[in-house]
Amino acid sequence: HSVGIIGAPFSKGQPRDGVEKGPDLIRSDGLVEKLKGQGCSVRDYGNLDFESVPNDEPVGKVKRPRAVGRANEKLAGAVHAIKKDGHTCVLLGGDHSLAIGSILGHAAAQKDLCVVWVDAHADINTPLTSPTGNIHGQPVSYLLRELQSKIPVMPGFAWIKPCISAQDIVYIGLRDVDPEEHYILKYLGIKTFSMTEVDHLGIAKVMEETCDHIFSKVKRPIHLSYDIDALDPSVSPATGTPVVGGLTYREGIYIAEKICQTGLLSAVDMVEVNPKRGRTEDEISSTVKAAIDVLLACFGRVREGNHSLDYRMP
Ligand code: ARG
Ligand code: MN
Ligand code: MN
Repeated sequence: HSVGIIGAPFSKGQPRDGVEKGPDLIRSDGLVEKLKGQGCSVRDYGNLDFESVPNDEPVGKVKRPRAVGRANEKLAGAVHAIKKDGHTCVLLGGDHSLAIGSILGHAAAQKDLCVVWVDAHADINTPLTSPTGNIHGQPVSYLLRELQSKIPVMPGFAWIKPCISAQDIVYIGLRDVDPEEHYILKYLGIKTFSMTEVDHLGIAKVMEETCDHIFSKVKRPIHLSYDIDALDPSVSPATGTPVVGGLTYREGIYIAEKICQTGLLSAVDMVEVNPKRGRTEDEISSTVKAAIDVLLACFGRVREGNHSLDYRMP
């Protein structure tokens, strides 16, 4: 695997600070070294820097639209460049509003991508349905062609053109979906595996059906957007909007292993790791470890172990 890493220390898609520390925290636990240790070639593109945006007044309910719009425009350019350099792109967030730029930048370089969205939340509120006004609960609405007529004009968002259709996204891990979001999911016929389906089918069948759905016509590149709050708070408590009853560590890793096995992983977001939401050092390190282990599984780490082809037993 050839991996390009971009850090986006950005938190303005939601109200809690600390999530901007995600990229450096994940790096400081040895992500690059561990990826190299399992045979990946890695280029770290460093962190983006985001200028502060003065007078970023809400537009309707939507909070900090200019800062979020600009940050994502910058991120989209970076992801596009990393894809042009031939890497699988890893975005280290930052909050989940960054999926706007990550997926749009990816789509600019890669026709016909599909999205696997692993999250407790659907993040598909429109600016008009959002109960909170936080853009990290809205990114999918800006990306879907079917919702474009529902998206008002907003400052900072003029560059955004939808790049996926409702049939191109699959959700795994849902358990905290707003009523308006549930309506949108059903109305558009979006494929979802909530925690109920994970319980009913088991994670192996969920991944089989996920692949059947996204590859129903042709095999195509995958954008994996992984919100660490998909995992149970007993595994990853240091996040802004934890929800009980989540994926186990093993289910979380299994998703990444199966996506890796397709050979079609083209970009991955790891978002919403927030050290300031951890109550102890253990809570923070457990969350960071889970994020890193998911990423390692995305790039070939397997739990059965492995050895190189030229190994000779002494
Ligand atoms: N549905 C809620 C909202 O719209 C929560 C979203 C949480 N999103 C996240 N990326 N953690 O604000
Ligand atoms: Mn979430
Ligand atoms: Mn999310």
